[in-house]
Amino acid sequence: MADLDLTFVDETIQQIGRGPEAVIPILQRIQEHYRYLPDEALHRLCDQTDITPASIEGVSTFYTQFRRQPVGKHLIHICVGTACHVKGAQMVLDTFRTELHLGSDQDTDADGQYTVQPVACLGCCTLAPVVQIDEVTYGHLTPEDGSGRAARFRAAP
Ligand code: FES
Repeated sequence: MADLDLTFVDETIQQIGRGPEAVIPILQRIQEHYRYLPDEALHRLCDQTDITPASIEGVSTFYTQFRRQPVGKHLIHICVGTACHVKGAQMVLDTFRTELHLGSDQDTDADGQYTVQPVACLGCCTLAPVVQIDEVTYGHLTPEDGSGRAARFRAAP
C-alpha cells in the first residue's frame, strides 16, 4: 500500500494550532479528509504537536463520530430509531450484516466496499423501517429487501 500523504495533517496543524486543546478540531478535520483516523496521521500529529497519544486515544474512543478503521466505499445507514425499531429494523440490520458476511466486531466487509452503520433516526419515520445507502433513502424495507439490495450491491459494487 502506498504511503499516506501527510501534507494535510501538517497544514491542519498550522491552521488550528499545536496545543492540547486543538485535539478535537484537528481529529475532525483529519477524519473528514481521510474518512477515518489513519495511524500514520495520528503519529504525525503527536510528533508535531503537544497532543499526546493518550489524549487522542481518549477522544477518539469517547466520541462515536471518530473511526479508527477505514470506511467502505459505500455507506449503509440503517435506522434503528424507535419508529423503525418497532417495524423490524433489527431484522433488516441483521440481514445486511449476514449478506455482507460481517463478523460481530466488524462493520465493513472484507473487500472494503460496504460499511454498515446503525443510526438513531434518519428523519423520515413515516417510511419506517428506513435505510440510507450513500445518498439514497429506501423506506418500508423488509428483511428480504435488505437481502436483495445487499446481494445486488455485492454483484455491482
Ligand atoms: S426512527 Fe427511523 S427514520 Fe426516524
